[in-house]
Amino acid sequence: MAAVGVVGATGLVGETMIKVLQDRSFPMDSFHPFASGRSEGKNSRCHGRDYPVEIITPETISKGMILFGATSANIAKDWVPMCRDAGALVIDNSSAYRMDPTVPLVVPEVNAGAMTGRESLIANPNCSTIQLVMALNPLLELGSIRWISVATYQAVSGAGTPALDELERQQSGSPPSGAEGRIHQNIITSIGDPGRGGFCGEELKLMSETCKIMGIDVPIYASTARVPVRTGHTEAVAVAFDRPVEPSDAVALLRCAPGVIVSEYGAGPLEVEGIDDVIVDRVRVNPADPSVLQFWVLADNLRKGAALNAVQIAEEYLRRSS
Ligand SMILES: NC(=O)c1ccc[n+]([C@@H]2O[C@H](COP(=O)([O-])OP(=O)(O)OC[C@H]3O[C@@H](n4cnc5c(N)ncnc54)[C@H](OP(=O)(O)O)[C@@H]3O)[C@@H](O)[C@H]2O)c1
Repeated sequence: MAAVGVVGATGLVGETMIKVLQDRSFPMDSFHPFASGRSEGKNSRCHGRDYPVEIITPETISKGMILFGATSANIAKDWVPMCRDAGALVIDNSSAYRMDPTVPLVVPEVNAGAMTGRESLIANPNCSTIQLVMALNPLLELGSIRWISVATYQAVSGAGTPALDELERQQSGSPPSGAEGRIHQNIITSIGDPGRGGFCGEELKLMSETCKIMGIDVPIYASTARVPVRTGHTEAVAVAFDRPVEPSDAVALLRCAPGVIVSEYGAGPLEVEGIDDVIVDRVRVNPADPSVLQFWVLADNLRKGAALNAVQIAEEYLRRSS
């Protein structure tokens, strides 16, 4: 058993991480919540005990520790190298190291083999990417993918505590303030920093991370939007194969896929809030082109989209390293 730490323990992902670690009885011989100086004096509760929030320094970490990162990418770049140097294992939720070719980017149901069990850093993918690859991977049995189109409807909790607080302020009548813009009764059609060629950061992450995890190199037409929903990301997906496909074959493959539930009734984000599985809904073939499969995919962005996937990575890592 190892000492376990959550860096960013007071944030939305960090708090969910602590819940998931307890739900899954993750083996730990001590627990260490870390956050910024703003959280000094606060406690995090785990397995019925209060633990004081600490600042991450060479003195507060140790060799063999398992650290789950739930801070922004800029902050991660400050503390992750120090922890690797100290001999800890880091599983990081931020985008800082996801596209580093030396760092595995893992969704255990899809590419657990990318890990050897000897790494010091494993990256957890973006929330919108995780649910997409969970649905796409079982479908590879139908044929080779020619292209993927995905439009996202992403919950506000995906942007962290300040965004959720801002949604609540706007819902109670306050005017928009801060970086989040006008989200109450609105849709924001750009997520993250502006990127190359008019794409936003979230679209670029979804495209590059999907190819890295699945080991494919195909066009991905991504459009991402933030909607005024608290939790649960929804995606409208179209996938073109190299041959005609049958919806019943796709459903049969998805029904056998671990972590996937198939539904047919038009599920919404409230159906995935608080659950671990990804829902794939209304699988159908386009009548104008029988090689194009269309479906919706939904997941709790804080659980499978972040905390749960990170804990599953650690569980798989421990299996491989023992
Ligand atoms: N939300 C999602 O659905 C989701 C999904 C996938 C990935 N992610 C990624 O996960 C990360 C965390 O997201 P979040 O939504 O949980 O954000 P959040 O709610 O804003 O939480 C940020 C956390 O970072 C901590 N922090 C800030 N500065 C720090 C420092 N110098 N040292 C240590 N901790 C520090 C904060 O502590 P204080 O409370 O002390 O400020 C807080 O605990 C981000 O990289 C995000 O992109 C989020």
